[in-house]
Order: sequence, then C-alpha cells, then structure tokens
Amino acid sequence: MDLARFPRRRYSHGPTPLEFLPNFTKALGGPRVFIKRDDLLGLAPGGNKTRKLEFLVADALARGADTLITCGAPQSNHCRITLSAAVKEGLKCRFVIEERVPGSYREDASGNHFLFRLFGVEAITVVPAGTNMANAMQQVADEIERAGRRGYVIPGGGSNALGGLGYVACAQELQQQCFEQGVRIDRVVVGSGSSGTHGGLLAGFLGNRIHIPIVGIGVSRDPADQVPLVHKEAQAVCDLLELGLTVPREQVVCVGGYWQPKYSVPNPRMVEAVQMLARTEAILLDPVYTGKVMAGLIGMSRDGAFRRDENVLFVHTGGAPALHAYESTLLA
Ligand SMILES: Cc1ncc(COP(=O)(O)O)c(C=O)c1O
Repeated sequence: MDLARFPRRRYSHGPTPLEFLPNFTKALGGPRVFIKRDDLLGLAPGGNKTRKLEFLVADALARGADTLITCGAPQSNHCRITLSAAVKEGLKCRFVIEERVPGSYREDASGNHFLFRLFGVEAITVVPAGTNMANAMQQVADEIERAGRRGYVIPGGGSNALGGLGYVACAQELQQQCFEQGVRIDRVVVGSGSSGTHGGLLAGFLGNRIHIPIVGIGVSRDPADQVPLVHKEAQAVCDLLELGLTVPREQVVCVGGYWQPKYSVPNPRMVEAVQMLARTEAILLDPVYTGKVMAGLIGMSRDGAFRRDENVLFVHTGGAPALHAYESTLLA
C-alpha cells in the first residue's frame, strides 16, 4: 500500500524491535510470547501515539497551524506525546482534560501530569466526565483564532482516519520484520481504546493481506461497545487509502473484562501483569493500558484461549510515565 502520498513527519529512527520473551513465556507456561516494542518509538517517551502523530502533525503543519489542541484523561499519554511533538516542531500545545474519575485531576500530580508541566503546556482546561470533548476543543481553537493564531484540533487518542495510518505503517513494518527475522506470528494482541491502534492495524493487515487474527483487549469498554468503534475506525482508514474494501465485522475481535472496575482504575490482574513483565523481562508496562492488556493476554492463556505452541505477539503501546502516579498500588 502506498503511504508515501500522505505528508509525514518522522519521530523515530527505524523499526521498533520485535523480540521473543523467553522468561515471560516460561513463567506463563505458554504460548510463546513475542513483543513489538512500540514503547521505544520516538518522542518523550514514545508510544503508539508517536506513529499517529507523524501523520497528524504533518497535516497540522501543512495547514499553517501554530498550536496543537487535544484532549485526554488526567494521566493521558496521548496528551503528553502530542505536547512532545509540539515542542519538537516549535508549536504551542493546549489540552482539554476530562476528569473521567471525579477528583482525579491534581495540579501537583506525578507521572504524565508532571511531564505536561515540564514540557511547558500552554494551557489546560479541565472539564467534568461526559463533556462533549469535540466542542470543548473547538472552543479552545476559537479562542486561539480570536488572538490571531491558528489551532489544529487532534481528536482523543489521535484516532481518526489520518492517525490510523500510523498503524498501517506499523503493519507494513511488522510484515517486513517477520520476513527478515524468520518469525511466524499466529495472533496479535493489542490494546483497544479510542481505537486508532487496533483499527489502523486491522486496516493495515487487510490492505496488505496479512492473515493474522488481531485480538483487541478493551481498556475502557466491553465488546458490545468497542467493536463498532474499531470497525468504524478500520473502515475509515481503508476508505482514506481508497482500498475499495468493506471491513468484515467478524474480523473485529475485542475482549472485555480486564479494564474493570473503571477506565484507569487499578485492578489486581493489572498489578500482577505489570509486576510479572518487570520481574521476568525488565520491561515496563503501564497501569492504565498495557498492564490491563497484558492481564488480558495472561488471563486468556490461563483460560486456554491459545495453543501452547502458538506464537502470540503483544504490541507494547507505551505509557510507562503513568507508573509513577500509581507507585503505592504497584508495590502494595
Ligand atoms: C499506552 C497506551 N496504550 C494503548 C492505548 C489505546 O490506544 P488507542 O486509543 O489507539 O485505542 C493508549 C491510548 O491512549 C495508550 O496511551
């Protein structure tokens, strides 16, 4: 597929590593678990949003924007990485933060919030759960416009068709890597939130005829709510690429049950997953996304969802700075 016709900024140096996790696999007792280290992408520190922002920021620059405006939760990785891209590009950056868990926004918080301040966010507007985030961001853009500046609004998680191209690029990178390293992957496990990662990857697999099933572990929704979101995103990415195909609904596979009691609120299985990967492979997961996604992989393994000799690829989407906002829970 030809991605070269879309303007793109480059924030990473080459492909992220694709590695086998021997100690983790042994501790789990199978399947054979591989990891795609998208936590090592560029920007500070990088993660899945880095890939999306390569296309989104290129579009912002082409439209003459001087300020990036985006939204997220109080510990949003997406906001932190967007800010980091803005700093690199010499742009300003503003956030609308949704206090999804009442009382969770704190001015003196650690983790990503500390990095918001260190990287010099221009302004943060905090709004209550359930606020229409698109409207709230548009208000910020209008305010900037009145001051003679130009804002560029990036949706939550960078998940629109353009952002999803980042994971089409990942699909192509992965295909090439498997070929070069002689690795055969039977299934991919990835986090499924605002859906740009899962949907973009699925579009990339379909477009490149990669016949590996993708399992999206929900970080904020169970399948009844998550599947339509991912399906819509995958279709939007396919349409932007003019692939002329309809995304088969049955290829959108989501698993629920691992994110509860609530988005961003810890649970014991997440704590076990974060500790297990840290103590077997010295790899950092995060408490909000990848910890719960890995808890899903572990839970599915224990439930017999994978064959023992199956090669399962875990896509590590980043997020480690949030660990510091959850230290007491993770070492309890
Ligand atoms: C570390 C991490 N993993 C996974 C996700 C979920 O990705 P997506 O929003 O593209 O579904 C996010 C979203 O913010 C994230 O920060």
